[in-house]
Amino acid sequence: MILSRNCSSSDPANPVNTACCNTNGLGCGDPTDLAALQPGETVLDLGSGPGFDCFVAALHVGKRGRVVGIDFTPEMAQLARRNAAEAGVVTVSFVLGDIERLPTLDEVFDVVISNCVINLCPDKTRVLTEAHRVLRRGGRLAVSDIVALAPLPREIVDDLALHSGCVAGAATVDEMSMALHEAGFNSVRIDIREESNKLINAWAPDCGFERFVAAANITATRY
Ligand SMILES: C[S@@+](CC[C@H](N)C(=O)[O-])C[C@H]1O[C@@H](n2cnc3c(N)ncnc32)[C@H](O)[C@@H]1O
Repeated sequence: MILSRNCSSSDPANPVNTACCNTNGLGCGDPTDLAALQPGETVLDLGSGPGFDCFVAALHVGKRGRVVGIDFTPEMAQLARRNAAEAGVVTVSFVLGDIERLPTLDEVFDVVISNCVINLCPDKTRVLTEAHRVLRRGGRLAVSDIVALAPLPREIVDDLALHSGCVAGAATVDEMSMALHEAGFNSVRIDIREESNKLINAWAPDCGFERFVAAANITATRY
């Protein structure tokens, strides 16, 4: 089973590196832990990348559970499928698709997770509305993502490299909370992870971005 998040290989053919928003890994937290996954549950991972969180989720939900990862980058979907095949994991599948238009029926998942992806999406309400649509009643959303601590300065917002670097597209906590409620979620919680300043600083040493953004644990329920 592949459980290493390190994507700093010097191999230029490794697509993980080309899309990596930092040198330590693609994610910014542990949504599988946040979700408190139970054996037998069905899980959807939005923006699954190389599949790390899907493989961890598979360990939690066991043989009776199912995990689906969705990503719109063909190289990521291929890499994730290759990782699953090499590890012999049969309870996880990977779908090529856009999380703003999920190619799945209504109310089919117990849990939706996502790790450091929603900040990259221009229409966060749309993504969250889709997540709400595919969750069963009583289903849970567990997201680790980057949020803005205050409205971001124009020079950050206008920097395209900082968008793909998971900084410039971050919504404020209030905007994220509003988007979650607009999408129909209840019991919304957004907890800033104070210690994430070290992670943000490691992404871009001495740039001071940790004054503007932080990683947050975001949870909500579909009633
Ligand atoms: C920072 S990486 C995180 C990958 C993975 N969640 C992890 O933690 O390892 C962001 C991923 O989101 C995917 N992504 C971004 N926007 C997306 C969208 N609208 N639909 C599907 N995938 C998207 C990218 O292709 C990329 O694989």
